[in-house]
Amino acid sequence: MEPGWHTLGRTEGFPLGEAVRAMAGQVPVLVVRETDGVFHVLTDRCSRSSRSLSQGEIADGCVTCRWHGSVFRLSDGWNVGGAATAPDRASPPGPTATATPRRDCPTPAEHPACGE
Ligand code: FES
Repeated sequence: MEPGWHTLGRTEGFPLGEAVRAMAGQVPVLVVRETDGVFHVLTDRCSRSSRSLSQGEIADGCVTCRWHGSVFRLSDGWNVGGAATAPDRASPPGPTATATPRRDCPTPAEHPACGE
């Protein structure tokens, strides 16, 4: 996948505080939208046994894997509890992603990431 902006869907497709599975090209990702317009994006793959994190529970800025209870911080993918011993694999250091809702995009020419 090329570095840079990738469209994951429309803002309304990501209910506040809920785990949503989306595709970034060929890569499944977990997307969580917060109330302040920040989106967190992690790979949808638990580092313990490679199962889907998007089926986990979201609370206190973390996702808890439903399979064995590993806990990953949404802001950087770091494992903060449970059985996993490594952070979410593809998470870069620092915030994983943020996005501005489309309604804030002035025009396609001024914000080409939207593509509209
Ligand atoms: S697969 Fe996630 S904790 Fe086991």
